[in-house]
Amino acid sequence: METSIVDVVIGMQYGDEGKGKIANQMAMSGEYDYVFRFNGGGNAGHTIYLNDEKIVTHLVPCGILHGIPSVIGNGCVINTQKLFEEIEYLKGFGFDTSLLKIADNAHIITRDHIDEDSKDTKIGTTRTGNGPCYRDKIARTGIRAKDVPELEPFLVDMYSLIHSQPKKFLAEGAQGYWLDIDFGDYPYVTSSNTGVGAVLNNGFNYKQVRNVVGVIKCYSTYVGAKGYQKDDTRFEQLREIGQEYGATTGRPRQIDWLDLDEVNQACKMNGVDFLIVNKMDVLRQVDKAWNLYEDQMILNCQDEKSFMDRIANYLDPSIDIEFQGQLH
Ligand code: IMP
Ligand code: MG
Repeated sequence: METSIVDVVIGMQYGDEGKGKIANQMAMSGEYDYVFRFNGGGNAGHTIYLNDEKIVTHLVPCGILHGIPSVIGNGCVINTQKLFEEIEYLKGFGFDTSLLKIADNAHIITRDHIDEDSKDTKIGTTRTGNGPCYRDKIARTGIRAKDVPELEPFLVDMYSLIHSQPKKFLAEGAQGYWLDIDFGDYPYVTSSNTGVGAVLNNGFNYKQVRNVVGVIKCYSTYVGAKGYQKDDTRFEQLREIGQEYGATTGRPRQIDWLDLDEVNQACKMNGVDFLIVNKMDVLRQVDKAWNLYEDQMILNCQDEKSFMDRIANYLDPSIDIEFQGQLH
């Protein structure tokens, strides 16, 4: 291996697809030298079950849970107070947080960013200051990690990290492709790019991307200000059984059936090699729920098997699909 490589985990819906679980499974393979986050900040919430313990992270990559050096990349935005709280929280479980590194050119969320974001009612943001921070980054008025003395011990330069010696990286996406600032349903989006392109903007070149793993749930959820959920008691059931409440804000997620056009586009735009379909066990517990959208029409599948076949037939046949939460 002459150059570093990166495998990427990306959500193909509106976040909360279960990326945390998948990135965690991949990190446990022992294959990776580094795990890193390439976008977003404390707006993300990754729920991981490890030895029956529920661990919720917002900013720290899941590598820390497995003793793997982990990096908050320059595409992320950091609330330093929340970061130090999260470090303490993880130390409480006994994890070695000295393995955490931060890109010196990542941007810092300030009190003003949070105050401004807290007044949001239009988008339904997580009120963590993300949007205002990214705005100031683009406006060239932001503060970077290298400007904050307390972060000094953590700092790394992304060029040296990636290009000085060949290493294997796992890139852990945040949010989902349909919350992407460019390709999502603007303005009901997050303020960063959420796809594979964002990985390159953390210092990788395109040849270094090895595998792209897309993650979906077998139904859709969205949390935010726009009306998304239609009137159907099965969606209420799915919310309770699937525990569809925000990991960061506790807000109820709005629910709909799986949208195959959305997933298909997201797979194409990100060059997905492997697709994980999560929460089959949840959909199975609701009556007459094997439904999905194709070309904006609801299609009622007879059973689990035909639902799975439908997905496989619709997507590019070269994509390797794995269903999780399935009956064995
Ligand atoms: P922001 O990222 O806090 O600015 O929020 C913008 C939109 O993205 C809102 O609809 C949020 O609910 C949504 N969002 C941001 N982060 C996540 C996430 O990790 N999961 C699900 N939705 C998210
Ligand atoms: Mg989440």
